[in-house]
Amino acid sequence: MSEKLIAPSVLASDFGNLQRDVEMLNNSEADWLHIDIMDGVFVPNISFGMPVLKAISKHATKTIDVHLMIVDPDRYIKEFAQLGADILTVHYEACTHLHRTLQAIKTEGMKAGVAINPHTNVDLLKDVIKDIDLVCLMSVNPGFGGQSFIENTYSKVKQLKEIINSNNASTLIEIDGGVTDANAKQLTQAGADVLVAGSFVFKAEDQPATISKLKQLANS
Ligand code: DX5
Ligand code: ZN
Repeated sequence: MSEKLIAPSVLASDFGNLQRDVEMLNNSEADWLHIDIMDGVFVPNISFGMPVLKAISKHATKTIDVHLMIVDPDRYIKEFAQLGADILTVHYEACTHLHRTLQAIKTEGMKAGVAINPHTNVDLLKDVIKDIDLVCLMSVNPGFGGQSFIENTYSKVKQLKEIINSNNASTLIEIDGGVTDANAKQLTQAGADVLVAGSFVFKAEDQPATISKLKQLANS
C-alpha cells in the first residue's frame, strides 16, 4: 500500500509569523501544504488570495496543494500555476463545465483536484473520475477551520474508493475538515490517501510532533 500523506492547512497558521510556520512545515514530516482560498461568495468567509500564496510559495519546499473555494475558478487557473500551485482543486458545486476546467488545470502543468461538499454524492464524479488526480471529500462544510468532523465521511470514502477501483483510476482521496488523532487511522483504513489538518496541528504545543503523530496513525 502506498504511503498516506499529511497536508497541514496553512489557514490555521499564525499569519503574523507565516514564514516561521512555513519553515516549521518544511522541517516537519508534512508531505503537502494545503492552501485554502475563499472568496466570500462560494463560502461565507474570505481567507487570503494571491499575494499571500506568493509569499508562502517563496518559502515552501513541499508540494503546494491549493483548495479553491471560489465561484468561477476558471478565471484564475493560469495565475495559480504561475504562483507555484502543484495541485489545484476546484469545487464540483462551483463548476458548470467541470471536464473543461480539469483539462485547463492540466494544460497549465498542475494536477487537477475536485472537492465535494458534504451533501454532494460521490456518484456524481463517476463520469470524470479518470480525469481527476485528487478528490477532496469535505468532512465539514467549507468556509471555516476548527469545525467538527462529519461521521458520514467514512462511508463516502468507501463508495468513492469503489468508483476509483472499478474505473482503474489512480485518483487520490483527500479528507478535509475536522481531522484529528481520533479519526486519522479510521480514515486511511477506509481508503483515504491524504489527510488535511488545520487546527489540530496549529493549536498543538508541539506542532512537528503532532504532524508526526498523524503521519504514524495514518500509516498504521
Ligand atoms: C475548510 C478548509 C479546511 C480547513 C481545515 O473550509 O477547506 O482546509 O482549513 O481546518 P480544520 O482541520 O481545522 O478543520
Ligand atoms: Zn481545504
